[in-house]
Amino acid sequence: MFALLPANVALYLLVDRVPNATRPSQENLHRAIAILTFASVVFRSELVLLLGPLVLQAIVRQYTSIANVLRVGIIAGTLSVALTVLVDSYFWQRWPLWPELHGVYFNAIEGKSAEWGVSPFHAYFSSHLPKLLLSAAPLSMLGAILDKRIRGLLVPYVAFLLLISGLGHKEWRFVIYSVPAFNIAAARGANWLISRKKSSLIGRLSYLAVAAMLGANCLATFLLARSACANYPGGASLYAFNQLLASEHNVHVHVSNLAAQSGASLFLHSHAPPFLPGLAPPSKFGRPVDWVYNKTEGLSVDALTAAPQFTHLIAEIPVLTPEAMEHWSPVAVVDGFDGWAFNIESVKAAFKMGLGEGLRTLRGLLEMRRSEKLVILKRKV
Ligand SMILES: *[C@@H]1O[C@H](CO)[C@@H](O)[C@H](O)[C@H]1NC(C)=O
Repeated sequence: MFALLPANVALYLLVDRVPNATRPSQENLHRAIAILTFASVVFRSELVLLLGPLVLQAIVRQYTSIANVLRVGIIAGTLSVALTVLVDSYFWQRWPLWPELHGVYFNAIEGKSAEWGVSPFHAYFSSHLPKLLLSAAPLSMLGAILDKRIRGLLVPYVAFLLLISGLGHKEWRFVIYSVPAFNIAAARGANWLISRKKSSLIGRLSYLAVAAMLGANCLATFLLARSACANYPGGASLYAFNQLLASEHNVHVHVSNLAAQSGASLFLHSHAPPFLPGLAPPSKFGRPVDWVYNKTEGLSVDALTAAPQFTHLIAEIPVLTPEAMEHWSPVAVVDGFDGWAFNIESVKAAFKMGLGEGLRTLRGLLEMRRSEKLVILKRKV
């Protein structure tokens, strides 16, 4: 997300040109290259896969010369490396340290990123991008078909997507930089559709199609946001845990892997240090700060039972076996997102009612399915 800002500024420089120009100005192009170099060196090394095609395109299409690219690249690159090494080595107290280079070595050369899961080659095109773009996806294709300036703009971004698809581990945040470019293309497509002659049927249908796509986009965004809100049972359970036991001392809780992966982060360790600097410690307000949040992985229930320091567990539901229940009693159960279900009964019911009540019932048309994910357990005494 830090890299998205400079990447967006670079895109702005590339499209900020006189109307109908087919190329960016040389000055803007050089600035964009410098900014992307900085962002690749300091924030996210994968941006090099965007910078490369961009530079290649600029040279092939003679937007600038090879000598200029080298000059800009070497100056921006050297300054950026110096900056990141100075700042990051200081904060990590390890000289010399260039974190992004370390990241490339670890994730790409040693191939360790694959340990976080591997997706097929086409996943960015078949799954991540459609979900990021929603109805902008078909509109951007239309924009690319219609306008060769759009095609020129998208070429480096598509090349970036193809190149980064070579890496087995895929996440939408690795390709978020391409979204604004595709949105520009989508705007071009939408503009063409709404500029058809309004007197013709096709023209009116085109206009309607754009309005429908915008509406569908809002609805999908709303549903996806609702899903995301319900998708952090770990955070919800640790928050509930902190509230339930707020005034107790000497709590030692084991946080399971699922909980730790779904929101039970350091930010919720409200009864143990570290605390945000500059703020009064919570003990001032009578809140105990002697808790231990233990996230050691790979401990079985038996091992947790046998370790007497643990007073509470935030465990996954399958832990609830009769043997475990001899030692632990459930305090609360936290559920989480499972999917959406189409509730056909509510449609039938709505038709039998008056208009107002019927519409209210229709709101239950889509129902979020939830299931129990985590349980808060207390050791029996
Ligand atoms: C967490 O629990 C494990 C297993 O009992 C133990 O080895 C480890 O030292 C504990 N960590 C803390 C911070 O108490």
